[in-house]
Amino acid sequence: MKLINNIVVVGAGTMGSGIAAHLANADCKVHLLDLPSKISRNDITAKALENIKKSDPPLLYHKEKIKNITIGNLEDDFDIISEADWIIEAIVERVDVKHNLYEKFSVKRKKNSIISSNTSTIPLKILTEKLPIETKKDFCITHFFNPVRYMRLLEIVEDCKFKNPKIEKLKIFCQEILGKGIVNCKDTLGFIGNRVGVYSIQCAMYEAINKKIPIEKADAIFGRPLGIPKTGVFGLYDLIGIDLMKDVLKSFEKGLKKNDSFYEYVKLHDVAENLLKKGFKGNKTGCGFYKTNFSKIANPTKVLNYSKGIYYDYSKVDIKILTDAEKLGSKALLDDDSIYGEYAFKVFSKTILYCCEILNEISNNIVEIDNALKWGFNWYKGPFEMLHDYGVERFYQRCFDRNEKIPIYLEELKNKKISCYDNNTKSFINTKFKKIFIKTPKNTYRLCDIKRTSHPVFSNESASTWLINHNKSDVLCVEFHTKANALDGKAIDLLNETLSQVKSKGAVGVSVYNEAMNFSAGADLKTFLNFAEQKSWTEIDKYLKSFQETCLLMKYSNFPVVSAVSGLAIGGGFEVACQADKMIAHMNSTLGLVETSVGLIPAGGGCKELLWRWVQDKNFDDKDEAAVKAFNIVGYGLTSSSPIQACDHKFFLKNYDITANNKDELLFNSCSIIDEMSKNYQSKIEPKFCLSGYKIKNKMGEILEELKDKKIITEYEVQVGLHLAHVMSGGNTDKSKVLSERDILKLERESFINLISNVKTKDRIRSMLIEGKRLKN
Ligand code: NAI
Repeated sequence: MKLINNIVVVGAGTMGSGIAAHLANADCKVHLLDLPSKISRNDITAKALENIKKSDPPLLYHKEKIKNITIGNLEDDFDIISEADWIIEAIVERVDVKHNLYEKFSVKRKKNSIISSNTSTIPLKILTEKLPIETKKDFCITHFFNPVRYMRLLEIVEDCKFKNPKIEKLKIFCQEILGKGIVNCKDTLGFIGNRVGVYSIQCAMYEAINKKIPIEKADAIFGRPLGIPKTGVFGLYDLIGIDLMKDVLKSFEKGLKKNDSFYEYVKLHDVAENLLKKGFKGNKTGCGFYKTNFSKIANPTKVLNYSKGIYYDYSKVDIKILTDAEKLGSKALLDDDSIYGEYAFKVFSKTILYCCEILNEISNNIVEIDNALKWGFNWYKGPFEMLHDYGVERFYQRCFDRNEKIPIYLEELKNKKISCYDNNTKSFINTKFKKIFIKTPKNTYRLCDIKRTSHPVFSNESASTWLINHNKSDVLCVEFHTKANALDGKAIDLLNETLSQVKSKGAVGVSVYNEAMNFSAGADLKTFLNFAEQKSWTEIDKYLKSFQETCLLMKYSNFPVVSAVSGLAIGGGFEVACQADKMIAHMNSTLGLVETSVGLIPAGGGCKELLWRWVQDKNFDDKDEAAVKAFNIVGYGLTSSSPIQACDHKFFLKNYDITANNKDELLFNSCSIIDEMSKNYQSKIEPKFCLSGYKIKNKMGEILEELKDKKIITEYEVQVGLHLAHVMSGGNTDKSKVLSERDILKLERESFINLISNVKTKDRIRSMLIEGKRLKN
């Protein structure tokens, strides 16, 4: 029984619905209330429930979770408040309306309950000013980010003078059950994430326009090369909505002290204001700084020339220093004396100076600030981690030379000749210049912390292997670190080398894990395309063989290998993940085999693995039917957006593979599983396949023809499907013959090479690489 089980969410708008859905994911009993409507009393919440069901990306782990939510309205169903362990308010941002509700909650709620507000701007002391002391004690701000399921950051503001253990328990619940990254904030406007994040965006926009840097270039600079998502600044504005950004800025303008450096950038820029006047609000109107095609991934088609007020065709930015910085690290860009380096350093330095300036006000713990930016804005590193990497002394000197106002924190670090982090002692320097040990939640490891104090056992430019001491056992952790963690030859080589050296390193097993947004978006298509253009078929075969053999090594070595997955694990990424002994997957993992979308088929063991999983299913008396099922799943290029949903496709094995609510559990739990499995480890036995060959291939062919007749698939997709059918039916075989895994793997390679030699597949790959678009030819 969970400590917090019965929850009432009040306010069924964007945030209330998102919070309710996420609590339903955790199998809590959720009651969603809003104002009553005149005709049908529960109109607002009924609509909210429909929106949750239709949400894309889905707010629910599985559609069945909706049954955990009941709906009602504040007049007819108010009594339900008396049963709640936790009452969450997510109504309009108006203090009078909120006060009114809290007074009613205070009277009705049960004794041990907690009340929290999702406010993004109203201070705790104002929210609770009219409440009796017993309710004040049980009140806090829980500031979730949108979309609630996917954004890891949860900022919590509490009145520290009460030191209420119930709120401590709430934090543990949110961390362990809801999977949130908790950041404790002082009671200040915008807390930490928005205060720093919005400042940084504003600075990036103003400085880009000051320097006359075109929009797409500014986004390419204030983006991946600095470890910031590729939406950069203008793209992020479009994503959030220019109108919403205007509201956020207004609240900062109203509430910040007049000497706060934010004032320099606090107004919505005229360029954005002009867009709003035309009704252009960003992605939701299809037009903002970019024009988009309204597809699921907002692909820009045109971009605004802000000096002339006209749009021109968007093309991908190709600037050498930016590509270099993605490989070599942000320092290469920050030290570059081009206008791009100058712009990057300006935004980087202003953001860090601002963090140092307000540090004491918002938190005296720089780790909290770094976490807020990493979890709320998806930055790869937080501002203080970036400062540490860049070097305090050099940073100070460059800011000093530019006559920037130097905050005390930075001045003191420089005078004391220390950095904000001390890696040797795993500590940070607080505002009183004391070293404080960095705490991480119980039963969690963060690879970024392990990396602070150690060197990789093996490393190349695409992957590294780290040694983790866990319960007196050593585990090797393989981390991919290419763009989107695409698996190139070097990444596979390093995985292979690690698997071959486990015993010689005295380790008990291998965890394949990384802390990037995505476990891996698949095999490196660029390499394949280059080989295909040079007609280097033997090179492609060599790569595929090496990929397949490495996966077999993962599966059949005499030690356990666990893949610990979060974000995308698709295509080749999924093939690596699913051929480990066991998978542990974060609840927001997307798993699947998507190769057919670029006119290919999985050839790293993905067809073989899925086929085996389905033909073993005892519910299928007719194994041909099971093979057709696997064929359909791979053929449609299906993915599932949570491991729970992935059980339906057997991308994730129910009652065998393991889920993780919080990303921080992944590495620790994978090490525990490896340690446990290694005690009595028995290598897996290779399966044997008896497949129907032509008989079932013909049936698969009929399915393809039918889809073509209905105009669901193209003529070329029939060709791709037939190659897949050849593999999934076992090739030239019949049920009397026994096939090994390597027989199926050979079929995968042959079909793959056949397909990649076709101009239509090459066009599809090019479209994906250059424009990020699926081409249907
Ligand atoms: P919204 O406008 O989408 O939804 C507000 C809901 O409150 C509506 O369903 C409305 O019917 C209901 N409501 C209005 N007056 C009410 C009353 N007297 N009693 C009960 N319900 C009432 O708003 P949204 O965006 O969901 O924001 C809710 C809260 O979350 C606000 O405090 C906002 O500042 C905060 N927030 C919003 C974020 C966002 O990205 N939208 C992010 C983080 C926090």
